[in-house]
Amino acid sequence: MKFFVDTAEIDAIKELNDLGMVDGVTTNPSLIAKSGRDILEVTKEICDMVAGPVSAEVVALDAETMLAEGRKLAKIADNIAVKVPLTWAGLQTCKALSDEGTMVNVTLCFSANQALLAAKAGATFISPFIGRLDDINTDGLELIEDIRTIYDNYGFDTQILAASIRSANHMSECAKIGADVATAPPGVIKAMANHVLTDKGLAGFMADVEKAGIKIL
Ligand code: E4P
Repeated sequence: MKFFVDTAEIDAIKELNDLGMVDGVTTNPSLIAKSGRDILEVTKEICDMVAGPVSAEVVALDAETMLAEGRKLAKIADNIAVKVPLTWAGLQTCKALSDEGTMVNVTLCFSANQALLAAKAGATFISPFIGRLDDINTDGLELIEDIRTIYDNYGFDTQILAASIRSANHMSECAKIGADVATAPPGVIKAMANHVLTDKGLAGFMADVEKAGIKIL
């Protein structure tokens, strides 16, 4: 499973990228607003740092303006994936941009039917939002499973980009289901390293290091 990092914070992306943990980046208008940076400027900086796809989201609601915005975003770098919402206008934009050879990430997907439409419209990535479904007492991971089944049934190339990930557990569950990509905030990716028994075991070893005066350097 590829790891995308869901942030527009340059330092956080760099730290994970230096460790080989970043296969791509996703941003959205809320994350850009949080960074306090200009969308074109910060997106370019991310594209220069990361080799994989960098999602940058359109902000218009009608297809014509979305397409113009998408074309402008696509010019930032070769690794841009234009992010469009899963609306009818977003699907129209997806089809037009993918026909032009631009990667498209269709976002705000909350149902298997929406994912089916995105694949038919030529999406490179479909972004089902797990956490936001969990928030309304629905099983977000079940949607990832359903989309995996449907895409495999018909051999769609669209990659499942599990999004709105809130916990390390979401990451391992997505990997078990076979999501192609998971995008998560830096804190969730780092939390994957944590285990209470690792901490407990290390504390025991350190106590013995001190008792026996073990030194290596
Ligand atoms: C995905 O591309 C989105 O940016 C993101 O995963 C949304 O997550 P949230 O529901 O935690 O805002």
